[in-house]
Amino acid sequence: MADIQDRFKENQDVQVIDTAKKLKIGIIGAGWIAEAHIDMYKQMPDVDIVAVADLIPGKAQALCERYGVEGVRYYLSGHEMLEAEELDAVSVCTYNTQHAPCAIDALEHGCHVLLEKPFTVTLDEAVEVMKAEKKSGKILSLGFQPRMAVNMQMIKKIVDSGELGKVYYLQAGGGRRSGIPTPYGTTFIEKETGGIGAIGDIGTYSLDMLLHAVGDPKPLTVSGYTSNFFGVRPDSYPWHPEYAEKFGVDDFAAGFIRLEGGIILDFRISWAMHMDTCGDALILGTEGALRIPSTECWNGDFPSPLKVYKKVAGQEICYEVPRCDDDNFGKMFYGKVRSFLDAIKNGGSAPVPSSQIIYNQAIIDGIIRSNELGHEIEIEIPEI
Ligand SMILES: NC(=O)c1ccc[n+]([C@@H]2O[C@H](COP(=O)([O-])OP(=O)(O)OC[C@H]3O[C@@H](n4cnc5c(N)ncnc54)[C@H](O)[C@@H]3O)[C@@H](O)[C@H]2O)c1
Repeated sequence: MADIQDRFKENQDVQVIDTAKKLKIGIIGAGWIAEAHIDMYKQMPDVDIVAVADLIPGKAQALCERYGVEGVRYYLSGHEMLEAEELDAVSVCTYNTQHAPCAIDALEHGCHVLLEKPFTVTLDEAVEVMKAEKKSGKILSLGFQPRMAVNMQMIKKIVDSGELGKVYYLQAGGGRRSGIPTPYGTTFIEKETGGIGAIGDIGTYSLDMLLHAVGDPKPLTVSGYTSNFFGVRPDSYPWHPEYAEKFGVDDFAAGFIRLEGGIILDFRISWAMHMDTCGDALILGTEGALRIPSTECWNGDFPSPLKVYKKVAGQEICYEVPRCDDDNFGKMFYGKVRSFLDAIKNGGSAPVPSSQIIYNQAIIDGIIRSNELGHEIEIEIPEI
């Protein structure tokens, strides 16, 4: 127990960055998340942002001007940028349905790729991206910033410490009562751009938090359900009731997944429902259990301490794991970009590798297919 509590005392080294070689960076997609990428790249002394592309005329330039980045060349598509530039690495910040084509294109142009979440829309797409990754020999890292957050990392440390014994059951919690994301339009909710809804937006984080904690086990079977009762209702968008007609994805999903190693995953996620949360996330093991307070995960934190439940000398006990108060947003996004750049410069491996996130995508894909078929399905991931 003390061992776990002491782990927050580990210092994070202050990193000295070698600026002898600057990496030439391009960004594809100049929307909301591209702001976080540009903000982080600006803080890296070993990076030059040389090009930004967006399908919408003027959008890439407006983004760079807003962030005071100068000397950038602008393009009207990722492909145009990749053809014209000699880039070391690319951030793919497009809406979901353009993740696979842009990532494959960038890898085929010899670029390392930092690809935003969700990995892709379908499992087949993710497999194609991984084939391109393998062929290129370049680094592909997925944009799951919660993995860089100290509080989130504690979940995996607790499981790895053996304190819970053998883990046999995972319950995903969280989800929103009223939070269909339309901050800058409808790219999250249209089939053509989002492709998938709550399941790929916040569900993918929730899956990663639990799957990664228990060692990224392979999913074997899925029984899934998705619905869209709220997304299609005009009153879900008080300021833009017309958005309801554009809604073409899921706003709620649930799944019962069997994972390798005899682990069960009970999953649910929501953008909208008549409930404040689907609950806390739980990890049950033979020697103890962990309660992770209801969280959206993407912000790398939870609203109150983790709780470990155990039996000690015949007594049922519960203790809280101290939180790291210094675990802020900026550090997490910095870590996501910095770890990618370090892997490139040091010849390391991807900080958030596709070989792990493919299982996350397989579950998302499995839930959607199972819902369509109306029964449980087996998950098959082709050799890559
Ligand atoms: N990691 C996070 O915390 C986080 C937060 C928000 C969004 N995201 C993810 O980031 C992605 C983008 O989200 P967003 O909110 O920025 O969306 P957005 O719709 O605001 O921006 C996406 C932009 O990509 C552009 N685009 C699409 N295809 C393109 C192409 N082929 N070439 C050039 N530009 C192209 C669009 O014109 C658009 O401006 C989504 O997949 C989302 O899931 C991640």
